[in-house]
Amino acid sequence: DWTTGNVIDEQVAAIRELVGDKRAICGLSGGVDSAVAAALVQKAIGSQLTCVYVDHGLMRKGETEQVEKDFVAATGVQLKVVDASERFLAALKGVSDPEEKRKIIGREFIRVFEQAQAEIIADEGPAVEFLVQGTLYPDVVESGGGTGTANIKSHHNVGGLPEDLEFKLIEPLRKLFKDEVRMVGQELGLPEEIVQRQPFPGPGLGIRIVGEVTRERLDLLREADAIAREELTAAGLDRQIWQCPVVLLADVRSVGVQGDGRTYGHPIVLRPVSSEDAMTADWSRLPYEVLAKISTRITNEVRDVNRVVLDVTSKPPGTIEWE
Ligand code: XMP
Repeated sequence: DWTTGNVIDEQVAAIRELVGDKRAICGLSGGVDSAVAAALVQKAIGSQLTCVYVDHGLMRKGETEQVEKDFVAATGVQLKVVDASERFLAALKGVSDPEEKRKIIGREFIRVFEQAQAEIIADEGPAVEFLVQGTLYPDVVESGGGTGTANIKSHHNVGGLPEDLEFKLIEPLRKLFKDEVRMVGQELGLPEEIVQRQPFPGPGLGIRIVGEVTRERLDLLREADAIAREELTAAGLDRQIWQCPVVLLADVRSVGVQGDGRTYGHPIVLRPVSSEDAMTADWSRLPYEVLAKISTRITNEVRDVNRVVLDVTSKPPGTIEWE
Protein backbone atom coordinates (compact mmCIF):
# COMPACT_ATOMS: atom_id res chain seq x y z
CA ASP A 1 0.00 0.00 0.00
CA TRP A 2 1.17 3.48 -0.81
CA THR A 3 1.39 5.54 2.35
CA THR A 4 3.78 8.35 3.14
CA GLY A 5 4.92 6.30 6.13
CA ASN A 6 5.85 3.37 3.89
CA VAL A 7 7.66 5.59 1.42
CA ILE A 8 9.68 7.14 4.21
CA ASP A 9 10.55 3.79 5.84
CA GLU A 10 11.56 2.27 2.53
CA GLN A 11 13.73 5.22 1.52
CA VAL A 12 15.36 5.53 4.91
CA ALA A 13 16.35 1.86 4.84
CA ALA A 14 17.61 2.09 1.26
CA ILE A 15 19.64 5.24 1.92
CA ARG A 16 21.23 3.78 5.06
CA GLU A 17 22.23 0.69 3.15
CA LEU A 18 23.59 2.68 0.22
CA VAL A 19 25.59 5.23 2.20
CA GLY A 20 26.94 2.97 4.93
CA ASP A 21 29.50 4.92 6.91
CA LYS A 22 30.22 7.40 4.09
CA ARG A 23 29.02 10.99 3.92
CA ALA A 24 26.66 12.97 1.69
CA ILE A 25 26.15 16.56 0.55
CA CYS A 26 22.84 18.15 -0.45
CA GLY A 27 22.17 21.54 -1.98
CA LEU A 28 19.10 23.34 -0.65
CA SER A 29 17.27 25.83 -2.84
CA GLY A 30 14.48 26.89 -0.52
CA GLY A 31 12.08 24.81 -2.61
CA VAL A 32 10.02 21.76 -1.76
CA ASP A 33 12.00 19.08 -3.59
CA SER A 34 15.46 19.72 -2.22
CA ALA A 35 14.00 20.27 1.28
CA VAL A 36 12.13 16.96 1.31
CA ALA A 37 15.05 15.07 -0.23
CA ALA A 38 17.38 16.50 2.40
CA ALA A 39 14.96 15.75 5.25
CA LEU A 40 14.65 12.14 4.13
CA VAL A 41 18.38 11.65 3.91
CA GLN A 42 18.83 13.42 7.24
CA LYS A 43 16.38 11.00 8.80
CA ALA A 44 18.37 8.11 7.37
CA ILE A 45 21.96 9.12 8.07
CA GLY A 46 21.77 12.11 10.45
CA SER A 47 25.06 13.92 10.88
CA GLN A 48 26.63 12.08 7.94
CA LEU A 49 24.76 14.61 5.79
CA THR A 50 25.83 18.21 5.23
CA CYS A 51 23.50 20.61 3.44
CA VAL A 52 24.63 23.65 1.50
CA TYR A 53 22.53 26.73 0.90
CA VAL A 54 23.87 29.32 -1.51
CA ASP A 55 22.28 32.66 -0.74
CA HIS A 56 22.43 34.42 -4.10
CA GLY A 57 20.58 37.45 -2.76
CA LEU A 58 17.74 36.90 -5.23
CA MET A 59 15.28 35.23 -2.87
CA ARG A 60 12.01 36.68 -1.71
CA LYS A 61 11.45 38.19 1.71
CA GLY A 62 11.92 35.69 4.52
CA GLU A 63 12.92 32.74 2.35
CA THR A 64 16.55 32.53 3.35
CA GLU A 65 15.59 32.73 7.03
CA GLN A 66 13.08 29.94 6.41
CA VAL A 67 15.90 27.65 5.31
CA GLU A 68 18.46 28.84 7.87
CA LYS A 69 16.13 28.76 10.86
CA ASP A 70 12.86 26.88 10.30
CA PHE A 71 14.19 24.07 8.15
CA VAL A 72 17.16 23.51 10.43
CA ALA A 73 14.91 23.59 13.50
CA ALA A 74 12.54 21.05 11.94
CA THR A 75 15.20 18.60 10.78
CA GLY A 76 18.32 19.22 12.88
CA VAL A 77 20.31 19.16 9.67
CA GLN A 78 23.89 20.35 9.56
CA LEU A 79 23.82 23.37 7.23
CA LYS A 80 26.52 25.42 5.56
CA VAL A 81 25.21 28.79 4.36
CA VAL A 82 27.23 30.73 1.81
CA ASP A 83 26.31 34.39 1.54
CA ALA A 84 27.21 35.13 -2.06
CA SER A 85 24.90 38.06 -2.75
CA GLU A 86 27.73 40.55 -3.36
CA ARG A 87 29.29 38.19 -5.84
CA PHE A 88 26.04 37.68 -7.77
CA LEU A 89 25.30 41.41 -7.86
CA ALA A 90 28.78 42.14 -9.13
CA ALA A 91 28.44 39.52 -11.86
CA LEU A 92 25.03 40.90 -12.88
CA LYS A 93 26.14 44.51 -13.00
CA GLY A 94 25.10 46.24 -16.21
CA VAL A 95 23.24 43.17 -17.56
CA SER A 96 19.65 43.48 -18.76
CA ASP A 97 19.29 40.64 -21.24
CA PRO A 98 17.24 37.77 -19.75
CA GLU A 99 19.28 34.90 -21.17
CA GLU A 100 22.49 36.60 -20.19
CA LYS A 101 21.21 36.98 -16.64
CA ARG A 102 20.19 33.33 -16.49
CA LYS A 103 23.60 32.20 -17.72
CA ILE A 104 25.45 34.38 -15.23
CA ILE A 105 23.32 33.27 -12.30
CA GLY A 106 23.61 29.60 -13.25
CA ARG A 107 27.36 29.86 -13.73
CA GLU A 108 28.01 31.71 -10.47
CA PHE A 109 25.76 29.30 -8.63
CA ILE A 110 27.76 26.30 -9.77
CA ARG A 111 31.05 27.99 -8.90
CA VAL A 112 29.92 28.91 -5.40
CA PHE A 113 28.42 25.48 -4.82
CA GLU A 114 31.57 23.71 -5.99
CA GLN A 115 33.67 25.88 -3.73
CA ALA A 116 31.45 24.98 -0.77
CA GLN A 117 31.67 21.32 -1.73
CA ALA A 118 35.45 21.51 -1.82
CA GLU A 119 35.46 23.09 1.65
CA ILE A 120 33.25 20.36 3.04
CA ILE A 121 35.49 17.68 1.56
CA ALA A 122 38.53 19.45 3.00
CA ASP A 123 36.85 19.40 6.43
CA GLU A 124 35.40 15.95 6.31
CA GLY A 125 37.71 13.95 4.14
CA PRO A 126 37.27 11.52 1.27
CA ALA A 127 34.28 9.82 2.89
CA VAL A 128 32.12 12.43 1.13
CA GLU A 129 30.96 10.22 -1.70
CA PHE A 130 27.32 11.06 -2.25
CA LEU A 131 25.32 13.97 -3.64
CA VAL A 132 21.60 14.20 -2.85
CA GLN A 133 19.26 15.50 -5.55
CA GLY A 134 15.54 16.23 -5.41
CA THR A 135 14.74 14.70 -8.79
CA LEU A 136 11.02 13.86 -9.15
CA TYR A 137 9.33 11.28 -11.32
CA PRO A 138 8.24 13.82 -13.96
CA ASP A 139 11.87 15.04 -14.19
CA VAL A 140 12.99 11.46 -14.80
CA VAL A 141 10.41 11.00 -17.54
CA GLU A 142 11.08 14.37 -19.11
CA SER A 143 14.86 14.31 -19.13
CA GLY A 144 16.10 13.38 -22.54
CA GLY A 145 12.71 14.24 -23.97
CA GLY A 146 13.79 17.82 -24.35
CA THR A 147 10.24 19.09 -24.52
CA GLY A 148 8.68 22.07 -22.88
CA THR A 149 9.95 25.26 -21.40
CA ALA A 150 13.54 24.14 -21.11
CA ASN A 151 13.82 24.70 -24.85
CA ILE A 152 12.63 28.24 -24.62
CA LYS A 153 14.54 29.46 -21.61
CA SER A 154 17.72 28.09 -20.14
CA HIS A 155 16.48 26.78 -16.83
CA HIS A 156 18.49 26.83 -13.71
CA ASN A 157 17.75 24.99 -10.49
CA VAL A 158 19.57 23.03 -7.85
CA GLY A 159 18.70 19.80 -9.62
CA GLY A 160 20.69 21.09 -12.57
CA LEU A 161 24.02 20.99 -10.83
CA PRO A 162 26.94 19.55 -12.74
CA GLU A 163 26.84 15.79 -12.51
CA ASP A 164 30.20 15.57 -10.94
CA LEU A 165 31.38 12.09 -11.72
CA GLU A 166 33.18 11.87 -8.41
CA PHE A 167 29.82 11.77 -6.66
CA LYS A 168 27.29 9.01 -6.54
CA LEU A 169 23.76 10.32 -6.64
CA ILE A 170 21.04 9.77 -4.05
CA GLU A 171 17.64 10.59 -5.51
CA PRO A 172 15.06 9.59 -2.91
CA LEU A 173 12.12 11.28 -4.72
CA ARG A 174 12.63 9.62 -8.09
CA LYS A 175 9.37 7.72 -7.94
CA LEU A 176 7.22 10.51 -6.58
CA PHE A 177 4.95 13.18 -8.00
CA LYS A 178 4.90 16.67 -6.56
CA ASP A 179 1.79 16.20 -4.41
CA GLU A 180 3.31 13.03 -2.97
CA VAL A 181 6.51 14.88 -2.20
CA ARG A 182 4.48 17.47 -0.30
CA MET A 183 2.77 14.73 1.71
CA VAL A 184 6.09 13.14 2.57
CA GLY A 185 7.44 16.55 3.60
CA GLN A 186 4.47 17.14 5.82
CA GLU A 187 4.87 13.72 7.42
CA LEU A 188 8.52 14.55 8.06
CA GLY A 189 7.41 17.65 9.96
CA LEU A 190 8.73 20.30 7.58
CA PRO A 191 7.36 23.86 7.90
CA GLU A 192 4.11 24.48 6.02
CA GLU A 193 5.67 27.44 4.13
CA ILE A 194 8.24 25.10 2.60
CA VAL A 195 5.96 22.11 1.97
CA GLN A 196 3.24 24.17 0.27
CA ARG A 197 5.58 26.54 -1.53
CA GLN A 198 4.53 27.43 -5.05
CA PRO A 199 7.03 27.13 -7.92
CA PHE A 200 9.77 29.76 -7.86
CA PRO A 201 12.50 29.96 -10.49
CA GLY A 202 16.11 29.09 -9.64
CA PRO A 203 17.37 32.51 -10.84
CA GLY A 204 14.90 34.05 -8.41
CA LEU A 205 14.08 37.74 -8.48
CA GLY A 206 16.95 38.21 -10.91
CA ILE A 207 14.56 37.37 -13.74
CA ARG A 208 11.67 39.36 -12.28
CA ILE A 209 13.36 42.72 -12.71
CA VAL A 210 13.02 43.85 -16.30
CA GLY A 211 16.29 45.74 -16.62
CA GLU A 212 19.50 45.67 -14.65
CA VAL A 213 19.46 43.90 -11.28
CA THR A 214 20.59 46.14 -8.43
CA ARG A 215 20.35 45.77 -4.67
CA GLU A 216 17.97 48.72 -4.46
CA ARG A 217 15.62 47.27 -7.07
CA LEU A 218 15.72 43.88 -5.40
CA ASP A 219 14.72 45.42 -2.07
CA LEU A 220 11.86 47.24 -3.73
CA LEU A 221 10.61 44.14 -5.55
CA ARG A 222 10.90 42.07 -2.36
CA GLU A 223 8.57 44.50 -0.60
CA ALA A 224 6.00 44.48 -3.39
CA ASP A 225 6.15 40.69 -3.68
CA ALA A 226 5.73 40.24 0.07
CA ILE A 227 2.60 42.41 0.03
CA ALA A 228 1.08 40.49 -2.88
CA ARG A 229 1.80 37.14 -1.26
CA GLU A 230 0.47 38.29 2.08
CA GLU A 231 -2.83 39.46 0.57
CA LEU A 232 -3.29 36.38 -1.63
CA THR A 233 -2.75 34.16 1.38
CA ALA A 234 -5.08 36.27 3.53
CA ALA A 235 -7.76 35.94 0.85
CA GLY A 236 -7.35 32.15 0.88
CA LEU A 237 -6.28 32.02 -2.77
CA ASP A 238 -3.00 30.11 -2.48
CA ARG A 239 -4.40 26.72 -3.46
CA GLN A 240 -6.26 28.10 -6.43
CA ILE A 241 -3.28 29.99 -7.88
CA TRP A 242 -0.40 28.01 -9.39
CA GLN A 243 1.99 30.89 -8.74
CA CYS A 244 1.96 34.66 -8.97
CA PRO A 245 5.16 36.23 -10.22
CA VAL A 246 5.49 39.86 -9.18
CA VAL A 247 7.62 41.74 -11.68
CA LEU A 248 9.35 45.13 -11.47
CA LEU A 249 9.52 47.04 -14.75
CA ALA A 250 12.71 48.80 -13.77
CA ASP A 251 13.32 50.20 -17.23
CA VAL A 252 9.85 51.73 -17.48
CA ARG A 253 8.68 54.90 -15.76
CA SER A 254 5.30 56.51 -15.71
CA VAL A 255 3.89 59.69 -14.27
CA GLY A 256 1.76 59.54 -11.17
CA VAL A 257 0.46 61.74 -8.42
CA GLN A 258 1.01 60.79 -4.82
CA GLY A 259 0.52 63.01 -1.78
CA ASP A 260 1.08 66.58 -2.90
CA GLY A 261 3.20 65.95 -5.88
CA ARG A 262 3.93 64.47 -9.22
CA THR A 263 5.87 61.23 -9.21
CA TYR A 264 7.80 59.49 -11.93
CA GLY A 265 8.02 55.91 -10.78
CA HIS A 266 8.02 52.28 -11.85
CA PRO A 267 5.17 49.86 -12.51
CA ILE A 268 4.79 46.54 -10.73
CA VAL A 269 3.18 43.71 -12.71
CA LEU A 270 1.05 41.03 -11.05
CA ARG A 271 1.09 37.76 -12.96
CA PRO A 272 -1.25 35.31 -11.17
CA VAL A 273 -1.74 32.12 -13.18
CA SER A 274 -3.58 28.86 -12.91
CA SER A 275 -1.91 25.79 -14.38
CA GLU A 276 -1.55 22.03 -14.09
CA ASP A 277 2.10 21.66 -14.99
CA ALA A 278 3.44 25.11 -16.05
CA MET A 279 3.54 24.00 -19.69
CA THR A 280 0.37 25.94 -20.34
CA ALA A 281 -1.32 28.43 -18.07
CA ASP A 282 -4.27 30.75 -17.88
CA TRP A 283 -4.34 34.08 -16.07
CA SER A 284 -6.25 33.84 -12.80
CA ARG A 285 -9.50 35.72 -12.51
CA LEU A 286 -8.79 37.16 -9.08
CA PRO A 287 -11.49 38.98 -7.13
CA TYR A 288 -11.34 42.73 -7.77
CA GLU A 289 -11.29 43.48 -4.03
CA VAL A 290 -8.12 41.46 -3.60
CA LEU A 291 -6.46 43.17 -6.57
CA ALA A 292 -7.54 46.55 -5.21
CA LYS A 293 -6.05 45.83 -1.80
CA ILE A 294 -2.74 44.68 -3.30
CA SER A 295 -2.58 47.71 -5.57
CA THR A 296 -3.34 50.19 -2.79
CA ARG A 297 -0.85 48.65 -0.45
CA ILE A 298 1.98 48.39 -2.97
CA THR A 299 1.63 51.98 -4.16
CA ASN A 300 1.35 53.24 -0.57
CA GLU A 301 4.09 51.16 0.96
CA VAL A 302 6.72 50.67 -1.74
CA ARG A 303 8.85 53.67 -2.55
CA ASP A 304 9.22 54.48 -6.26
CA VAL A 305 6.26 52.36 -7.34
CA ASN A 306 3.31 54.42 -8.53
CA ARG A 307 1.39 51.92 -10.64
CA VAL A 308 0.27 48.29 -10.40
CA VAL A 309 -0.81 46.44 -13.54
CA LEU A 310 -2.36 43.02 -14.07
CA ASP A 311 -1.07 40.62 -16.72
CA VAL A 312 -4.04 39.06 -18.52
CA THR A 313 -2.09 36.90 -20.98
CA SER A 314 -2.35 33.13 -21.06
CA LYS A 315 0.56 30.77 -21.85
CA PRO A 316 0.97 30.49 -24.75
CA PRO A 317 1.57 33.11 -26.03
CA GLY A 318 3.08 34.59 -22.87
CA THR A 319 5.39 32.54 -20.67
CA ILE A 320 4.64 32.55 -16.94
CA GLU A 321 7.76 34.54 -16.09
CA TRP A 322 8.52 37.76 -17.92
CA GLU A 323 12.12 36.79 -18.62
P1 XMP B 1 7.90 29.93 -18.03
O1 XMP B 1 8.26 31.35 -17.69
O2 XMP B 1 8.87 29.28 -18.96
O3 XMP B 1 8.02 29.14 -16.65
O4 XMP B 1 6.46 29.78 -18.48
C1 XMP B 1 7.53 27.83 -16.45
C2 XMP B 1 7.76 27.46 -15.01
O5 XMP B 1 9.14 27.31 -14.73
C3 XMP B 1 9.56 28.22 -13.72
N1 XMP B 1 10.89 28.67 -14.12
C4 XMP B 1 12.02 28.14 -13.62
N2 XMP B 1 12.23 27.20 -12.69
N3 XMP B 1 14.54 27.44 -12.95
C5 XMP B 1 13.49 26.86 -12.34
O6 XMP B 1 13.71 26.02 -11.46
C6 XMP B 1 14.42 28.38 -13.91
O7 XMP B 1 15.40 28.89 -14.45
C7 XMP B 1 13.09 28.75 -14.26
N4 XMP B 1 12.57 29.65 -15.15
C8 XMP B 1 11.21 29.56 -15.05
C9 XMP B 1 8.52 29.30 -13.70
O8 XMP B 1 8.44 29.96 -12.44
C10 XMP B 1 7.27 28.51 -14.01
O9 XMP B 1 6.80 27.82 -12.86
